[in-house]
Amino acid sequence: MKVLVIGGGGREHALVWKIKKSSLVKEVYALPGNGGISEIAFVEKIPVNDFENILKFSLEKKIDLVVVGPEEPLSLGITDFLEAKSIKVFGPNKKASLLEGSKVFAKEFMKKYGIKTAEFEVFTENEIKKAKDYALSLLKKDNFCVVKADGLCFGKGSFVLKDKESTFKVIDDLLINQKLGKAGEKIVIERCLFGKEVSLIGITDSENLLLFLPSQDHKRLFQDHKRLLDNDEGPNTGGMGAYSPVPFFKKELILKAYEKIFKPLLFGLEKEGIFYCGVIYAGIMLTEEDLYVLEFNVRFGDPETQVILPLLKSDLLEIILLAKEKNLKKELEFYDKSCLCVVLASAGYPYQYEKGKKITLKKEIEEEKNIIFHAGTEKRDNEFYTSGGRVLNVCGLGNTLKEAQANAYSLIKEIYFEGMQFRSDIGKKGIDYEENNTSKS
Ligand code: AMP
Ligand code: GLY
Repeated sequence: MKVLVIGGGGREHALVWKIKKSSLVKEVYALPGNGGISEIAFVEKIPVNDFENILKFSLEKKIDLVVVGPEEPLSLGITDFLEAKSIKVFGPNKKASLLEGSKVFAKEFMKKYGIKTAEFEVFTENEIKKAKDYALSLLKKDNFCVVKADGLCFGKGSFVLKDKESTFKVIDDLLINQKLGKAGEKIVIERCLFGKEVSLIGITDSENLLLFLPSQDHKRLFQDHKRLLDNDEGPNTGGMGAYSPVPFFKKELILKAYEKIFKPLLFGLEKEGIFYCGVIYAGIMLTEEDLYVLEFNVRFGDPETQVILPLLKSDLLEIILLAKEKNLKKELEFYDKSCLCVVLASAGYPYQYEKGKKITLKKEIEEEKNIIFHAGTEKRDNEFYTSGGRVLNVCGLGNTLKEAQANAYSLIKEIYFEGMQFRSDIGKKGIDYEENNTSKS
């Protein structure tokens, strides 16, 4: 069959790579793709939100299945749009995508269906004083509070705050100054949770749900919670690395998450009359007391996908097709290995950065040790050049997390582009945990 993947980041490179391994696939296409994807799939520079041209392309190429990577086209209703034209799409419809597209919707849904999440309240521009009073009450209780814009903000809409001044500024910026536009017309203010973050990603046909291995992205609890530099210092960025599985999130906790998060989620969706076929991602905070959901995403995580798909033994395309047939009655199988991904970024990222730097790799990749997924790259005259902030996802595989980490970092030594920057501590928290808890786990 012919499969079209929508997107052009590291996540989509991993999706194309995994789908290509299926015996069910004949050709894979990607829009807009990137340099690395263009090596293994047909790409064309059609933007992810250009539904008309995606439709035209799908009809012309006789695409059998569209797999959507990013959240924006899902929230804008790409699934509804293409399916109305009889094109099969894997990804939730517009209504179901509200679980990511509206924090207010997601939080109220969780409250209604008993999914544990941080205590919260919702405010609009007419309720500035109430919003500030509520935020102050949280700051007093916890020394921190969290303010979130309701709508999609590409990772820039949540603020973990620790003092009155910065909290009031964020509230004013969102509700009065409309710094995030419509996305900030409503805000959620919630209690700050403390613990360890885990991403648990599943695939559902609305009735059955299969979970991939847990993974951990690299962010932390301060105002700039996603950090570029070592030890979680530096400005806001997209995820700079990930690893899977997670030593402190073993079978017992996965089962608990299934019972306490995903089961009530499916129950609630059914009660609300929302059909959901696609990927569902729970961003979880494991506190000393319980599992709390920080957020739902309606798609694979980035860079989590780059570490969970290499560990998946099952045929992803077969699983996706079973979900589309509403018959997801299968166990997922995994390799008994670890995978760790380090993101290489352009100089200047996440602020202004230059593009067009030539990328060199001085060594043949050993498949059992490494995979490289491209993000912001393009291919010209048989060479790769940087074309984005996050450039390459260098993955290491190993029998232990430590070995996976060593394999990732040793390949990075062979890669060069001008201004390349990366964190050198990806996986540290997991490895430290493993080393301190081997007798207990
Ligand atoms: P979100 O936009 O909801 O995905 O949140 C982005 C990031 O902010 C999360 O991955 C956490 O690192 C942090 N965060 C969000 N909500 C909370 C919370 N209630 N307590 C602590 N950290 C949070
Ligand atoms: N890694 C976080 C996300 O994909 O939203």
